[in-house]
Amino acid sequence: MATFQYDLRQLFPQPIIKITSTLLPHKFRGDHRQAADIAAKISKIIDRMGELSAIAQKLNKPVTTAQKLRMSDNHVVYLMADLAKDGDGRRGEVTGLLKIGFKDLYLFDELGQARKVDKTPCILDFYIHDSRQRTGLGKVLFQTMLSEEKWVPVKCSVDRPSEKLLSFLKKHYGLERCIPQANHFVLYDGFFEHEKGNEKASELARSRRMLLANR
Ligand code: ACO
Repeated sequence: MATFQYDLRQLFPQPIIKITSTLLPHKFRGDHRQAADIAAKISKIIDRMGELSAIAQKLNKPVTTAQKLRMSDNHVVYLMADLAKDGDGRRGEVTGLLKIGFKDLYLFDELGQARKVDKTPCILDFYIHDSRQRTGLGKVLFQTMLSEEKWVPVKCSVDRPSEKLLSFLKKHYGLERCIPQANHFVLYDGFFEHEKGNEKASELARSRRMLLANR
């Protein structure tokens, strides 16, 4: 369990909070002293959850740390907690972390043409505590992020997705067919479809795939 020495209800006015580079919850209101205290506690949570995520993904070092978030204006971390008091009287545990951001990327479209896409929405790190996986919490956290950011799953690029995340995206959002990339980002069929003038390209790509599938 990801429990901490302090009462999490002080940090989580609701079960999911959004943290930016200030290391404070998005809607935080308080004085300097309170802000420093909250930011220190949030930093510890982010570092711990980032570490657990790295362990779960067998990475050498965490993708998410408080220090990295503090340095990046275009990254956001969502944290999820279960705020119920447990049998030992501890108040709450942190159950999930989701880091997202924008990146300028060179990507291949459905026709294999290279394009520079500025401010691509990216899924950068995603972790639900091992004891809580496959109970629907990932979907709750991801859905909250999508509605808060007004993102749609097919328009997200995913940085080095694990098998579990690939399966998650397929199950909950029907994302399956990828557009091959030269980098470690995964893009799904439909990513480029909204762009004017690219509908024809998507149509061509779809026809080509159908032809190949019917061979
Ligand atoms: N094996 C295969 N698929 C899995 C697994 C697993 N062990 N765990 C979750 N999934 C997928 C499946 O599609 C599953 O549906 P199913 O149980 O019917 O097969 C679905 O996710 C379950 O949905 P939720 O319960 O909403 O998802 P969960 O709370 O487990 O969160 C997450 C998904 C974040 C991927 C979680 O499993 C996790 O933390 N895994 C370990 C860390 C990880 O791999 N993170 C992604 C790294 S890549 C990146 O962040 C860019």
